[in-house]
Amino acid sequence: MKALIILIFSLPIFLFGCSDQAAKSGKNVISGAAEIGGSYDLVNQINLPVTENNFLGKPQLIYFGFSYCPDICPTALQKMGAVQEKLDPNGSLINYLFISVDPERDTPDSLKAYVESGGFPLGLKGLTGTEEQIERVKLAYKVYSQRVPLSNSEADYTVDHSDIIYLMDENGMFVDFFFGRSTIQEISQVIKDLLV
Ligand code: NI
Repeated sequence: MKALIILIFSLPIFLFGCSDQAAKSGKNVISGAAEIGGSYDLVNQINLPVTENNFLGKPQLIYFGFSYCPDICPTALQKMGAVQEKLDPNGSLINYLFISVDPERDTPDSLKAYVESGGFPLGLKGLTGTEEQIERVKLAYKVYSQRVPLSNSEADYTVDHSDIIYLMDENGMFVDFFFGRSTIQEISQVIKDLLV
């Protein structure tokens, strides 16, 4: 089943987070990275409509996840915060985006509180939308996510999702990607080249 999903999405890298079973699946390298990115219609954490055009003019770091994620997402976002501190202390050189793969729970209001968490990049934008809008942006960025019911409660669920930080250039073109667990040094080195 997982192999099939990988083929459908043609993922460059496929790394699950947020569940033990998923974490064991590791990564699979497949081509197609150059086709990452594209247009989307979403809302930000103050409920204003945004598209990809709102974030042109600066390089972007984009992470897909969900605010209920216990550790994978916070780890990646704190890493982005550390990169910001190192390369962009005023938060003025790069756009930092968090795009929800759990639009049912990640309303603009809940994202607003989340993106302001300590250690996350200053000025981090939280984007969400309808299920359909989120599916479209996930497809554009070749992001995998899947809702997984939690056994203790029918209403409760977690979301398996890819753990990838995307680096786009000032024109919104894909440059590179990093794992949430990539080092601050590794990420900073690549972005530094883009800022000079
Ligand atoms: Ni997560």
